[in-house]
Amino acid sequence: MNFLEERIMKDGVVKPGNVLKVDSFLNHQMDISLMEEIGKEFKRRFADKNITKVMTIEASGIGIAAFAAKEFGVPMVFAKKSKSINIAGDVYVAEVESFTHQNKNQVVVSKQFLGPDDHLLIIDDFLANGCALLGLISIADAAGATVEGLGIVIEKGFQFGGRVIRNLGYQLESLAIVDAMDPETGSITFREQADSVR
Ligand code: G4P
Repeated sequence: MNFLEERIMKDGVVKPGNVLKVDSFLNHQMDISLMEEIGKEFKRRFADKNITKVMTIEASGIGIAAFAAKEFGVPMVFAKKSKSINIAGDVYVAEVESFTHQNKNQVVVSKQFLGPDDHLLIIDDFLANGCALLGLISIADAAGATVEGLGIVIEKGFQFGGRVIRNLGYQLESLAIVDAMDPETGSITFREQADSVR
């Protein structure tokens, strides 16, 4: 098991409905030493890429993306969730549907902060059905930016997002892939990954 899988086993809680609660260390209270380690691991996995910017989506992606951006020495930009239907022309927009929360958000990034010269690493905390990542990819495409790769902390391998993104040809690196979990016993099964740091 890698450092993240160990932490999930220790502090993650499996809830009914295939939800993994990790809010004691990842997406509510944050363990900053763990964030640093996660940032370094993303740097290691995308070391051969010439990343100019890290991009994520609010809210939970921001802290993680910040640590990744520090490792690459580049800025981080996050897509903002916007309820407004009158979105001005100075932003890139994508619609992101959340199956977990059963709602839709328009997400926006200012055209000031994304352009054709950008080589992006896209980061998020969870990958389930992939709607958030597909929204971020469409914003990158609209800006003419290059998506060099995508980094996820926890992928839910039994949902289809990971397959969709990998089938599109992107390098997708998930630090932990949960293939199964059982709310009754609390057991979590991780996918074996060849190149994971111990
Ligand atoms: P998708 O983007 O991959 O399609 O995922 P989905 O719509 O299913 O997930 C919607 C939100 O729920 C996302 O946060 C995602 O991070 C979160 N999520 C999905 N599965 C789990 C889970 O098992 N455990 C936890 N803790 N979160 C999960 P979001 O709507 O963007 O909210 P936030 O970033 O503002 O927190």
